Amino acid sequence: MRLTTITTTTTTTTLILLITTIILVPTNSETPTPAKWPDQFHSILVMNKSGTLELIDLWYDWTNGRNFNIIQHQLGNILYDLEWNNGTSFYYTLDSDKTCSSAQLEVGILRPNWLDGSEYIGQKELNGFLCNVWTKAEFITYYEDVVSKRPVGWVFYTGREAHVMTFEVGAALEDAKWQVPWYCFQETNNATTTMPDVSGAITQRSLVDFGTRNVQDM
Ligand SMILES: *[C@@H]1O[C@H](CO)[C@@H](O)[C@H](O)[C@H]1NC(C)=O
Ligand SMILES: *[C@@H]1O[C@H](CO)[C@@H](O)[C@H](O)[C@H]1NC(C)=O
Ligand SMILES: *[C@@H]1O[C@H](CO)[C@@H](O)[C@H](O)[C@H]1NC(C)=O
Repeated sequence: MRLTTITTTTTTTTLILLITTIILVPTNSETPTPAKWPDQFHSILVMNKSGTLELIDLWYDWTNGRNFNIIQHQLGNILYDLEWNNGTSFYYTLDSDKTCSSAQLEVGILRPNWLDGSEYIGQKELNGFLCNVWTKAEFITYYEDVVSKRPVGWVFYTGREAHVMTFEVGAALEDAKWQVPWYCFQETNNATTTMPDVSGAITQRSLVDFGTRNVQDM
């Protein structure tokens, strides 16, 4: 995140400004803050990047230190993107292609309070919902329903949009579904070598953009 350096001089003007700031503090304290993510939830997301659509089953599971994106490409395959809090991630298919690749990142999954420190930019409508809107790290714009405080969507700086279709607080995927297929531990086809669109999918890995590694600021 960019920090703004403010240079001040000890003049009467500065003192007046300081006094004004102090008076304004009660007003600023009413600035809305985004709701913390629940420790566990399930969401169905519709993703749109310049008209390329994906349907994602997102299983966020902070309690067990893991996050799952099950990515259905429109009229295409399903890519499983499983992330552990120790930085290990697997991308695989469960079809006859049996592709798998893994990555070791320096950071784990998003913390429930990852939106702390975001900048409030006001209210806007998204998909017919009146939302409070924040930006974070010049990376993401986040829309939260004013009334229910549920996320409605977010937009990456790349233009990739996530539209939140369901938001089931407390829903958790059973342990057996988090098993990585055996061929992830074999010399096999890397998912990236057989799926031309995989890099696009990875770009929106939960809320991480691989191009910039901005995840570290989240
Ligand atoms: C996807 O986004 C494009 C703009 O990038 C827009 O023209 C199109 O209508 C969107 N499609 C859907 C299904 O939302
Ligand atoms: C991270 O955790 C997963 C699941 O427990 C495990 O399979 C993987 O080997 C771990 N990675 C490292 C680097 O310890
Ligand atoms: C898979 O990717 C790894 C790391 O980029 C590389 O070392 C390996 O040779 C690749 N395997 C195949 C079968 O392409």
